[in-house]
Amino acid sequence: MCGIVGYIGTKKACPILLAGLSRLEYRGYDSAGISTIEKNRLSLMKVKGRVKNLANLDGIDNLEGTIGIAHTRWATHGKPSKDNSHPHQDNSKSFSVVHNGIIENYNELRKFLTDNGYSFYSQTDTEVIPNLIHYYFTKDIANDELKFLRAVKNACLDLKGSFAIEVISKLYPDNMIVVRQDSPLVIGTCEDEKYLSSDIPAILSYTRDFYLLNDLEFAVLTRNMVKFYDKDLNKIEKQTQNIEWNASAAEKDGFDDFMLKEIYEQPTAIRETIGSRINLDNKCEFDELQFTKKYLNNLNKIYIVACGTAMHAGLTGKNAIEKLCKIPVEVDIASEFRYRDPIIDEKTLCIFISQSGETADTIAALKLSKEKGAKTLAISNVIGSSITREADYSIYTHAGPEIAVASTKAYTSQVVLINILAIYFAEILESCDIKILNNIKKDILDLPKKIEETLKCNEIIKNFAKTIYQEKDVFFLGRGIDETVAKEASLKLKEISYIHSDSYAAGELKHGPIALIENGILVISILTDSNLVKKTISNIQEVITRGAKTLVITNQKLDKNMFDKVIDIPETNCFFSPILSIIPLQLLAYYISKEKGLDVDKPRNLAKSVTVE
Ligand code: M6R
Repeated sequence: MCGIVGYIGTKKACPILLAGLSRLEYRGYDSAGISTIEKNRLSLMKVKGRVKNLANLDGIDNLEGTIGIAHTRWATHGKPSKDNSHPHQDNSKSFSVVHNGIIENYNELRKFLTDNGYSFYSQTDTEVIPNLIHYYFTKDIANDELKFLRAVKNACLDLKGSFAIEVISKLYPDNMIVVRQDSPLVIGTCEDEKYLSSDIPAILSYTRDFYLLNDLEFAVLTRNMVKFYDKDLNKIEKQTQNIEWNASAAEKDGFDDFMLKEIYEQPTAIRETIGSRINLDNKCEFDELQFTKKYLNNLNKIYIVACGTAMHAGLTGKNAIEKLCKIPVEVDIASEFRYRDPIIDEKTLCIFISQSGETADTIAALKLSKEKGAKTLAISNVIGSSITREADYSIYTHAGPEIAVASTKAYTSQVVLINILAIYFAEILESCDIKILNNIKKDILDLPKKIEETLKCNEIIKNFAKTIYQEKDVFFLGRGIDETVAKEASLKLKEISYIHSDSYAAGELKHGPIALIENGILVISILTDSNLVKKTISNIQEVITRGAKTLVITNQKLDKNMFDKVIDIPETNCFFSPILSIIPLQLLAYYISKEKGLDVDKPRNLAKSVTVE
């Protein structure tokens, strides 16, 4: 969480940093701050609240410096306040630091520094960092060109936890030093300007050439150059990576909110995800993977591990892999998986799904799986993200930047990709009738058009949202693949509308939850599997009998009079029905949130990328 930006170049840094912060605000928005090098002093301006409060501060327009760092915060240690907001400075005000991550041993470091005469003004873990840098700087009697870097390096080697850090100093008015460990940070480069950011979209309008840092690699930046060092301060060479996303992908493009834009981007996103995965011979293609028939045949189990929406996409992967490849699959929440001593060995394949590729729990689960001897495969949307650098293999959803906290196009693109992966495995294993696979592939290619068709329900959903936005509890029901969608729809609703909701396997209702059904309560059901439709209808009957209002999302021919509202979606293969059935429910969550006057893109207490445990 938290967003950090930095600039070193020939222009005034402040407007560039504020623009970058606004684009990163989805990562945290309880306070913001900026520090620039102004002649031979460090400016420091901080404020509680949103980036716009920072931009409105008296005197901010007077900042002339061409080097600066800035931060938008999602509080972990210390409540949102001006003192706790970043940048933080050491006692002598020689160093300014912004930090994203958590310093787990900050109490010990704080004690060590206090014993050495340092004092603290905030409750944050971060404030130890500039003081540690100052401590090592003053202890270092050498006066060579690496002195600043050595101080930052020594300080960082004392830190336990996760960090992406940018440091500037009034003693080095032409330099900036950055480093990361388990938290994201990218360096955008142009001829005489360098841009730093927690993610690529925030600085895409300036450059498409990026350096990606690995854990504990240090970069020393000047206007014209970036020098890289490892943790022993040996010089290392790095190549830039060219990122194909265009800058407008990170703008709202006339939509009121990123979420709505991203919902509407789904046909394009899915086209990109499919890309050329189905080749001219009608075979699924993953050149970047080297799984042999022998390896797949020998697998005892596949784990799919992820958090939140990405985990829900994983559930659809389980369905496809088990049905098409006959390999048992377990889907787990990353924060649970890593602490439950999962049974993993070299006969296990672990697949990790993460839009951002920076989710702390997912990365930790991946590292654990590798240690235990499994092969690891990352599915991410962000090229060069931490998870893709840790995994043995990586495949990308190519859905374009997702900015809204509520994940929409990332989910549908993950569902598409993991299902294509299942077909690819089945082709290698020859575990499924070729005709069945060919029919599924045909359905994949039809998906973008069917998504466009599904999006036509927008107005109906918008009007329906007006009638139900004051609900206090909503239930989502489904069986089989539809239950996975019920889970995702319920998460979407609660995270942006703050309405309590729960999802249930429809058949499970009468084992307890039905006690909650009372007159007027809203029950939303998803019915796309012809084998299960009759069973689910019986369960809906049971809630109707107890007074529930019903909304049904379906691609089946039903007696519509039974329900209060029915939304028809196009028919598709069951493997892919989640991609279509979730769309009306994404729109419903969106319009309820709008009706309630909430900030759709930045829901309370949440951040886009969860880089802390
Ligand atoms: O970046 P990731 O895919 O790893 O993020 C995982 C979850 O934090 C994320 O899907 C979260 O649940 C979304 N806010 C849901 O809309």
